[in-house]
Amino acid sequence: MLDRRGLIAGLVSVTLLATPAIAQQARRAAAAPGLRTRPIAGIGEVPVTGIGTSQIYSNPQGEEQLVPLRATLKRFAELGGKVIDTANGYGRAEEVIGQLTAELGIRDKLIFATKVGANTKEEGLAQIEGSFKKLRTNMIDLIAVHNIRDTDNQLATLRDLKAKGRIKAIGITTSNDSQYAAFEEVMRRQQLDTIQVDYALDNRGAGDRILPLAQEKGIAPMINLPFGRNRLFQKTAGKPLPDWAKEIDATTWAQVFLKYIMSHPSRPIVIPGTGTVPYIEDNLGAARGRLPDAALRKTMEQYIDALPA
Ligand SMILES: NC(=O)c1ccc[n+]([C@@H]2O[C@H](COP(=O)([O-])OP(=O)(O)OC[C@H]3O[C@@H](n4cnc5c(N)ncnc54)[C@H](OP(=O)(O)O)[C@@H]3O)[C@@H](O)[C@H]2O)c1
Repeated sequence: MLDRRGLIAGLVSVTLLATPAIAQQARRAAAAPGLRTRPIAGIGEVPVTGIGTSQIYSNPQGEEQLVPLRATLKRFAELGGKVIDTANGYGRAEEVIGQLTAELGIRDKLIFATKVGANTKEEGLAQIEGSFKKLRTNMIDLIAVHNIRDTDNQLATLRDLKAKGRIKAIGITTSNDSQYAAFEEVMRRQQLDTIQVDYALDNRGAGDRILPLAQEKGIAPMINLPFGRNRLFQKTAGKPLPDWAKEIDATTWAQVFLKYIMSHPSRPIVIPGTGTVPYIEDNLGAARGRLPDAALRKTMEQYIDALPA
């Protein structure tokens, strides 16, 4: 039985196969160089589209479900993508990423970002050692404190690992605005390389407070829930792209949503959950071409706000 994702991927492939000229054009566009990048302290320049793994990579059943994930990671690396966001708390996701990237021999092309979510220093250390094993690597590029849990203890451990060269960058994450005040407090008090927060065209709270603070402090922002899982696609289902999408070289709704985020003045890196080749080509496409200016960002906000919830 095909699930919804399999069905969509299949339909996209069938459509592309049926129209060779379009297929060729899409492949050329996807293979074009020049992904937009932004720096992360300790890591360097990073393309602004990454991959999130919390849902799709958390529990694939058997080889049949690993096939599209392997193909997605392969295509991601081929097209110059780098950042893979995962966490100890995402079921088997770290293990799946470790296995597939080892099989593909692409670990060195990628940036692994994972998270520690523990209540004590000892628990955190054990989790982190587990992450190294599951990801099958001696160096994890970035580890963040998941949902600012036991933050000071965990950040102390992460600083230690950074000093030893086992990780390159540290950060904190949240996806809940009830944590924003505490999150900002940590951002002001601690030296961080990255933060990760929820932000989307219809969920703009972080754009007014967390992201400006990141910009002021020179911290690289990463964005989770860029589509609100499937919320934005449901809101725009069946609607043609507005004319203004052409002004930002967006050919799909996904690119519209991602380009809105990327155009925030703090220059975020976006990590949409992605487990098919058509989706990764689409999402990497958002890292190319023009971005909306302040006036068009307003137009985009007004458009989405006018749609029924
Ligand atoms: N507190 C935290 O630290 C925290 C919290 C939440 C998330 N995260 C991170 O952020 C990542 C992103 O969040 P998320 O995966 O929950 O939600 P999301 O990125 O907002 O949405 C992911 C879903 O969007 C759909 N999608 C992806 N690309 C698409 C495209 N080009 N066209 C149409 N649909 C597309 C897929 O749905 P279908 O598969 O159903 O088609 C996918 O499952 C997570 O994977 C995780 O790594 C961190």
